[in-house]
Amino acid sequence: MAKDKTVFFCKECGSEYSKWMGQCPACKAWNSLSEAPKERRKPTAESMGYRRTTPMPLGSITTDEEKRTETGMKELDRVLGGGIVGGSLVLASGDPGIGKSTLLLQMCRNLSAQNLPVLYVSGEESLRQVKLRANRIGEFNDSLLFLADNDMSSVREHISELHPAVVVIDSIQTMVLPELDSLPGSVTQVREITSFLLRMAKEEEITVFIVGHVTKEGSVAGPRMLEHMVDTVLYFEGDTTTPYRILRAVKNRFGSTNEIGVFSMERNGLVEVENPSEHMLAGMPEDEPGSVVTATLEGTRPILVEVQALVCKTTFNLPRRTAAGTDFNRVTLLLAVLEKRLGIGLSGCDVYVNVAGGMRVTEPALDMGIALAVLSGYANRPLPKGTTAFGEIGLIGEVRSVPQALTRVREAAKLGYQCCILPKTDADKIAGQIPKGLKVIGVSNVRDLKRFLSEGQ
Ligand code: TYD
Ligand code: MG
Repeated sequence: MAKDKTVFFCKECGSEYSKWMGQCPACKAWNSLSEAPKERRKPTAESMGYRRTTPMPLGSITTDEEKRTETGMKELDRVLGGGIVGGSLVLASGDPGIGKSTLLLQMCRNLSAQNLPVLYVSGEESLRQVKLRANRIGEFNDSLLFLADNDMSSVREHISELHPAVVVIDSIQTMVLPELDSLPGSVTQVREITSFLLRMAKEEEITVFIVGHVTKEGSVAGPRMLEHMVDTVLYFEGDTTTPYRILRAVKNRFGSTNEIGVFSMERNGLVEVENPSEHMLAGMPEDEPGSVVTATLEGTRPILVEVQALVCKTTFNLPRRTAAGTDFNRVTLLLAVLEKRLGIGLSGCDVYVNVAGGMRVTEPALDMGIALAVLSGYANRPLPKGTTAFGEIGLIGEVRSVPQALTRVREAAKLGYQCCILPKTDADKIAGQIPKGLKVIGVSNVRDLKRFLSEGQ
């Protein structure tokens, strides 16, 4: 008997199957399989704007130094690796409301001020909404054009007509290519639109920024998939209850992924924060138990942050522990190390740890700050004025070395700190290079921390 040739395809991701299933094994969408219509419309090479290419030997390929254009925002330029690269595709992602549209709008404004033709396509907001945001930011000139459209084919026409130097697509999840029969934001749409933009960027030397939302569930057409296709992936993050926002490059074909940019969301848009340590420590209490300044490293940039710990006797059998701005498991582990190695009764206390200023720090060098804050909070004794600390703490209670101790020490000295507690191995390594006026205390075990607190040395 001849086999039935019916084919089923997934409306979400386009995968084909020989039998019907309730869930697509590829994209996990439910009820998305349907029988393939006879003349299934597939995008053709022409409809996608493909160009014929010819193979060529390496010798005939020119490699001019990539041209960089500064965005007028030093923090953004730093993360991009020194400005935007012509013909690159950049994905800017982050939680809704974090400030992606604001950041890109400000960038467009600065670029258009250099008389570069820029096109900002908004698929999410009306032109009126865009204008309201722009009013908060300042004056705009006419080389920046706005388009409120979801239809990628019409956007495509506008781009080939205007030939802008920079295009912003806000956001990729709202755009549709009508020739594909799937919903906006579906994997097929996102993939096809991105590959079209990628080709356009490379062929026509247009720099394209795409905004991608990340939802808590990891998103339908997750920007995860986009990350492989684009040249640069920027993440804009921060706690929306505080004004600080951090821009990171998690992938960058044209620069390092170590750099971060720090911004503050103000009434008139994003303001660059050139000296983050000063901002993080603004309003810090003095001479209070449970507060320690620690030198952390964000990429290659040292930032001083305040770690706070509140330690109080509990009336419950199960003591409470919370950690804001850092890793909860790391905090509980450090509490166990302190309890075991120093014999202090933390299991009878509630402990709340907080990294003040809205930054999230997860590097191990924060351990010493957390441990000192807890010890100081427990003993109800403040640290001597002008003290800062950093170092990793192991399970045996040993203090281990951390990367770039000298950079951290210099930042502490720059901000006027007089004493720095750090791993002994690091103190030995940087001996002779310590900035004048700064006393360094090398410690090798948590016992040294307890001694320091009780004796102040
Ligand atoms: P937006 O750029 O729209 O975020 P996203 O594109 O990532 O969703 O910014 C959203 C928030 O920023 C919004 O809550 C309002 C705030 N905001 C300011 O505080 N000041 C400003 O000048 C602007 C333009 C926005
Ligand atoms: Mg937006």
